[in-house]
Amino acid sequence: MTLYEAVFARHSVRQYTDKAIEEDKIEILNKQIDKINNDTGLKISLCINEPEAFQANKPNYGSFSGCRNYFVLAAEKGRDEDIGYYGEELVLLSQTLGLNTCWVALTFEKNKVPVKLSENEKIYDVIVLGYGKTNGVPHKSKPVDKLCRVTGEAPEWFLSGMKAAALAPTAINQQRFIISYDNGKIKAKALLGPCSKTDLGIVKYHFEIGSGMENIVWEER
Ligand SMILES: Cc1cc2nc3c(=O)[nH]c(=O)nc-3n(C[C@H](O)[C@H](O)[C@H](O)COP(=O)(O)O)c2cc1C
Repeated sequence: MTLYEAVFARHSVRQYTDKAIEEDKIEILNKQIDKINNDTGLKISLCINEPEAFQANKPNYGSFSGCRNYFVLAAEKGRDEDIGYYGEELVLLSQTLGLNTCWVALTFEKNKVPVKLSENEKIYDVIVLGYGKTNGVPHKSKPVDKLCRVTGEAPEWFLSGMKAAALAPTAINQQRFIISYDNGKIKAKALLGPCSKTDLGIVKYHFEIGSGMENIVWEER
């Protein structure tokens, strides 16, 4: 499965089977985490077989069950968008390896996550991963024309990017973002909403994969 195919195949999965993630897949994920941490200064890690943060010993925690593997997305404060962008890179990479995932900002116990952070660092989110009981279902989406603003005529790659952006996971499925195209210039903006800056990073990653364009230059506000 390619990353492009993964954009369409991925849905949040909250219930997991006992099947262990194979060592070779863990190695691929850890290699990518090391690369991201080196390139960006983020502090991402992978916890395997650590059920405590999800109280997997209780039959159901929220709508989650069987969660024992997760990425921990930590960094200094103010890195929300990067957390979204690189977290989603790991989500789609996991999907290409046949693994299911779910972003989690709230329904886990932060103090049970076994990572050491310095004073100015925090855990933003975790992303649960593993073999889901199902592959999830597509989320309801706003129409693409409500998620973008186009001045002039948008090229095909922009429309493909928007299709992938609409498939991006966002907190409470809020889709609080706008991507604008103005005669070749492209900009993405987070609207007000919980975690909407993290969502923006996720959406940009999807857009880049969907558009098939390398080196998209996002205009600053
Ligand atoms: C930043 C972020 C935080 C999220 N936090 C939670 C959470 O705490 N609990 C939960 O059940 N789902 C959480 N989700 C998953 C969203 O509810 C889900 O992505 C959204 O409903 C869209 O569905 P989909 O991922 O299946 O496309 C979160 C998603 C994102 C992007």
